[in-house]
Amino acid sequence: MRKSVLIFLVTNILIVALLVHSLWVLITLLFVNGSEDQISRAELPAPNSNVISSRPQLIPKIIHQTYINESIPAHWQGPQQSCLDLHPDYEYKLWTDKKSREFISTEYPWFLETFDGYEFPIQRADAIRYFVLAHFGGIYIDLDDGCNRSLDPLLAYSAWVRRTTPTGISNDVMGAVPRHPFFLKAIDSLPDYNRNWVMPYITVMASTGPLFLSIIWRHYNSATPSPLENDRVRVLFPDEYNNHPWSFFTHHRGSSWHGSDVRLIFWMGHHWALLTFMGCLVSFTVIFFVWWFCNRTVLKGGRKTSFLPEGIRSVIYRSVSGKKDYELVDRHEV
Ligand SMILES: *[C@@H]1O[C@H](CO)[C@@H](O)[C@H](O)[C@H]1NC(C)=O
Repeated sequence: MRKSVLIFLVTNILIVALLVHSLWVLITLLFVNGSEDQISRAELPAPNSNVISSRPQLIPKIIHQTYINESIPAHWQGPQQSCLDLHPDYEYKLWTDKKSREFISTEYPWFLETFDGYEFPIQRADAIRYFVLAHFGGIYIDLDDGCNRSLDPLLAYSAWVRRTTPTGISNDVMGAVPRHPFFLKAIDSLPDYNRNWVMPYITVMASTGPLFLSIIWRHYNSATPSPLENDRVRVLFPDEYNNHPWSFFTHHRGSSWHGSDVRLIFWMGHHWALLTFMGCLVSFTVIFFVWWFCNRTVLKGGRKTSFLPEGIRSVIYRSVSGKKDYELVDRHEV
């Protein structure tokens, strides 16, 4: 095998290995559907069943919701009231911006700087729900989700989240006992995930939103030793979530914070075939360029007349070697 071919292959294998390694958790999200932790429909009594449940209620009877202030907009009062009406014996906590900040500054002062520093208010609304679940336990419900039946059967699990399609889990309804290790891990991880990904939608999703929680969920489930049976995070699947008479929730209006970049994401979703094709084209071009570079410049460039003009060559060397090594490389080349 020619030396250049070998270098080419090794370089490419290294690049691919590095990418796969750094994106591994995201890649596994495409294959893991959470079915091993599914709360199966057989486990759940029908909405008006008079079967007497002997299962202990682990999760405290608290419903948490978040909004800017106490004036809930008219279109969300219906869903909010439906949850209140079905759960007269539950404590209700509405986390307004003011209450949320007070809570963080009193109970979790180490997080206050990150909390105040979030660029988008929805990031604070995301973060506070993990903190109150970790702290008090209970059930968090987004304001655009209404209740369709009593949530009592869901109190029997130490923690549960909702599955989303095509992949991952959502943070719009979740339940947990106080100090559940999954939510402790989530709040502990928030500062590390506080990065800006240029597009607001992706920044929110990955720093505090469903993508963040899905990644933590993957890490939590694949940790060694694996979570104890009592600490498993159970998963509510779409049929148990809404659209059926036996489902727990009803879904109203979409999220209120989506910006213009969401249109781009949806556009990308509709044009995935074109984008895949373009992606392959770009990858092959890059691979071809690496090949060309290994073959011509590195191995023969010194001996033969290079195919690249001198100016372009020094630019490449500079970017490859970094500024400090530029002179050295260049002198060697001359
Ligand atoms: C609550 O917030 C909304 C939206 O920002 C605002 O229009 C309303 O005036 C606020 N209400 C009170 C009582 O501060």
